[in-house]
Amino acid sequence: MKGLILSGGKGTRLKPFTFTRAKQLMPVANKPVLFRVIEAIRDASIGEIGIVIGDTGEEIRQAVGNGKRWGVDITYIPQDAPKGLAHAVKISQDFLGDDRFVMFLADNVIQGGINSLIRQFADSDWNSQIVLTEVEEPQHYGVAELDDQGRIVRLVEKPRVPPSKLALVGIYMFDPYVFEAVNSIQPSWRGELEITDAIQWLVEHGHRVYPYIHRGWWIDTGKSTDMLQANDRVLAELAHQVDGYVDRDSKIDHLVTVERGAEIINSVVRGPAIIGEDCRIVNSYVGPFTSIFHHTVIENSEIEHSIVLDHSRIYDVPSRIQDSIIGREVEVTYSPIKPKAYKMALGDNSKVGLL
Ligand code: G1P
Repeated sequence: MKGLILSGGKGTRLKPFTFTRAKQLMPVANKPVLFRVIEAIRDASIGEIGIVIGDTGEEIRQAVGNGKRWGVDITYIPQDAPKGLAHAVKISQDFLGDDRFVMFLADNVIQGGINSLIRQFADSDWNSQIVLTEVEEPQHYGVAELDDQGRIVRLVEKPRVPPSKLALVGIYMFDPYVFEAVNSIQPSWRGELEITDAIQWLVEHGHRVYPYIHRGWWIDTGKSTDMLQANDRVLAELAHQVDGYVDRDSKIDHLVTVERGAEIINSVVRGPAIIGEDCRIVNSYVGPFTSIFHHTVIENSEIEHSIVLDHSRIYDVPSRIQDSIIGREVEVTYSPIKPKAYKMALGDNSKVGLL
């Protein structure tokens, strides 16, 4: 069994963060979403992983390397344009060969425990297994219609009138018959070769496609609000530990992780929360569901339910920051200089909510 991760997308809905960084490298609870996907595949005892990359390929290569860190072998497969998930499978044929494989979208975060599912497929004679989950707005996804016995009747990509609430989660398992499917279908209305159409082709041609219904949580981290939600979920499940320094005047609880080199001075951190490597939290309050990424400094400020990326500085902010995502190398400070006013230097596509 091999692994295939699709990491070609640009993340246009996650602007402005994706102007400077591949969306798959956005950290959730201080770990890039893509790294979580690699670990999920590794945990299913798969040692060979292909990553399909696009415009942000160089950055992804830099961050991931050859996979040694996870004990896996990584092969990069460049895709010249975002031509669809089925196109990504097509160009990965040389890498995949005759092996059965699991394919993951690199921006999906799913509640753990899918390795037994992957093993089950590895040992089965099914041609494909897809993962479905109930969602409120199925029209934004690939949607499956099942019969009374739970067999797949039909799959449609982003239907205007969804036949059910069961969306295709970005995890798919295939055997080599999928190549026949991806070579037989035509591009959709959005000009992409859809994996949903390839699976529909397998069903129509009598191949065994088994639907598995996932009951836990699943988040497609396409938008900023999804990032915060994914962060909440992962922080709540993390096994927390303190490797950094917490001084005697500070208070943290058992749901707080303090990473290597971080310092908490005269502050209160209420978990679930994570403070990244070499961060400094001084005279401050960090509330539940907050992830502070590496090398960030927070002084005389309060923050809760937020994500702060690396090398940022938050100083002397008079009211609490909440429900926010703050990028890399950002400075948020109190300004004593008259006139009393908000003074901002915001990048393109930024959003600010003022009191
Ligand atoms: C893709 C698939 C869709 C699936 C979704 C899951 O959509 O085409 O079937 O439900 O991922 O995230 P896209 O992100 O390309 O719009």
